[in-house]
Amino acid sequence: MCGIVGVLGTHEVAPLILESLKRLEYRGYDSAGIATVNNGTLDRRRAVGKLINLSDLLVHEPLTGKSGIGHTRWATHGAPTVTNAHPHRSGGVAVVHNGIIENFKALRAELAAAGLVHETGTDTETIAILTRLHLTQGMTPAKAAAATLARLEGAFALAFLFEGEDDLMIGARKGSPLAVGHGDGEMYLGSDAIALAPMTDRITYLEEGDWVVLTRAGAEIFDADGRRANRAVSRIRLDQTQVDKGGYRHFMAKEIAEQPAVLQAALAFHLDPSGQALSLPDEVDFSDCDRITLVACGTGFYAAQVAKYWFEQLARIQVETDIASEYRYRQPVLSDKAVAIFISQSGETADTLAALRHVRDQVARTIGVINVPTSSIARETDVALPILAGPEISVASTKGFTAQLLVLLLLALKAGQDRGTLSADQVKDHLATLASLPGLMRQALDRNEEIDKIARKLAEARDVLYLGRGMMYPLALEAALKLKEISYIHAEGYASGELKHGPIALIDKTMPVVVLAPRDALFEKTVSNMQEVMARQGQVLLISDPAGLEEAGEVWQSITLPTVPELIAPMIYAVPAQLLAYHAAMVRGTDVDQPRNLAKSVTVE
Ligand code: F6R
Repeated sequence: MCGIVGVLGTHEVAPLILESLKRLEYRGYDSAGIATVNNGTLDRRRAVGKLINLSDLLVHEPLTGKSGIGHTRWATHGAPTVTNAHPHRSGGVAVVHNGIIENFKALRAELAAAGLVHETGTDTETIAILTRLHLTQGMTPAKAAAATLARLEGAFALAFLFEGEDDLMIGARKGSPLAVGHGDGEMYLGSDAIALAPMTDRITYLEEGDWVVLTRAGAEIFDADGRRANRAVSRIRLDQTQVDKGGYRHFMAKEIAEQPAVLQAALAFHLDPSGQALSLPDEVDFSDCDRITLVACGTGFYAAQVAKYWFEQLARIQVETDIASEYRYRQPVLSDKAVAIFISQSGETADTLAALRHVRDQVARTIGVINVPTSSIARETDVALPILAGPEISVASTKGFTAQLLVLLLLALKAGQDRGTLSADQVKDHLATLASLPGLMRQALDRNEEIDKIARKLAEARDVLYLGRGMMYPLALEAALKLKEISYIHAEGYASGELKHGPIALIDKTMPVVVLAPRDALFEKTVSNMQEVMARQGQVLLISDPAGLEEAGEVWQSITLPTVPELIAPMIYAVPAQLLAYHAAMVRGTDVDQPRNLAKSVTVE
């Protein structure tokens, strides 16, 4: 959840670390800090809130040195205060940490008994104190860090810096990602390659349990058993690391607008050159599969819920969907013929990763639907299918969601093909339908100005309900999530038919009800539910196609989308949901790309 970076440089490192932290700010922005070693002297600066505050502090209180570590925090243990901000320091040891040390209370008590007192409420300070203790026992910095690592339980990515050591940095990874960057006479550490992109494109991804001793001459990597490990150096594509706003006011606006191109690219990648047949890896095989399990968190989970409809309709197979944090603890009944699909934009979400590890030896096959190809989930699933959305920087997922949907739809078609519920011609027809997706999505994006005006009215509400039936139901859940997470307006999504079983009690003239309803087989039923809302003075915003809007008659507000094939409606209807949330958030003046209390990559349980 936090972002960490380290540089053994040939110039002043504070500006470089700040730049890298800017690229990691999506991982958390409760506080930020940097520590450097300058001619042997360890020093640090820390500030609460966004990176800009640290940047300001460094203007007044510069930090010199060519070796340094930095951190941007999403608070877990301890409030977001300067004292609790990283780097944590004990004597001559400074540490930055991403993750949670589960046994920190026991270690803390042990250290207290030895007379070593903590100044903060964090688990990270324990790491610094323990390492300092090992140093005072006569160990070298590398041995002291290794001895500390051996005592830690939980998930972490760590970077250590030591007083008196201008040419030494130690990193470690267990459960949280960490990459080593190779420069010319410089070495780096970072939570991801994007952070290191301004400095290098040569990256080594550490494996689980690895730790690394860095000097300017290179990296010495050890595995969890302390043996020397050879890990490949790969060149990352710099186009995968571009993180500018491209002229848009927010990353979210840019990412919403990118969707037609993203879907086009994903189609080109996962179909054969004719565009008439699927081109998926051989391991993606549902022939002997007896059920499909879809596991994810947040927006990915709503994509899974949409996909359930596709798998059931197209492949006539039993599907279960679950939130990763629930799945792993509820003793799911597994089948050795099941295919388990894990959906994650970042590929690092702790709960989804843990759910994968929990079931991978008990099911026939695991498939990852991921955006970051080097992520843990990508590496640990039997086969990982990229959604090819490119870097998604805005905390609220948009292009990640629709690209996940597309890949899941392709998987459902493959399942239908493998199980014989779809003929070759039917698959071809469906793929022909998919070819219209980017163009239809562009048409939906063209409603931007109209949606902006409606969002201004929506932004006045205290609470908003979203309703949908069939695949529009999970979409209503996603639409509500988008609105609440970036505009802070309370919103809930319901299956239209569920309204009268309780939520209808909330309806009055102050309550906008957004109805997502293409003119499909379920439309009339949804319209009846809409009438029930209007009869109670609820304000209906209907999102539909021309036929649907005409049939529905007068409503408070409406958004006209193109008429779209039922199969791809979820992707198209995601667009007005995203734009409504975006414009409502603009009206409310919230921090659209970095909403309060959130972080992009949730690497803690
Ligand atoms: C909401 C959002 C989150 C993520 C969730 C899972 O807009 O982005 O709900 O979907 O944290 O993240 P990933 O997909 O990285 O596993």
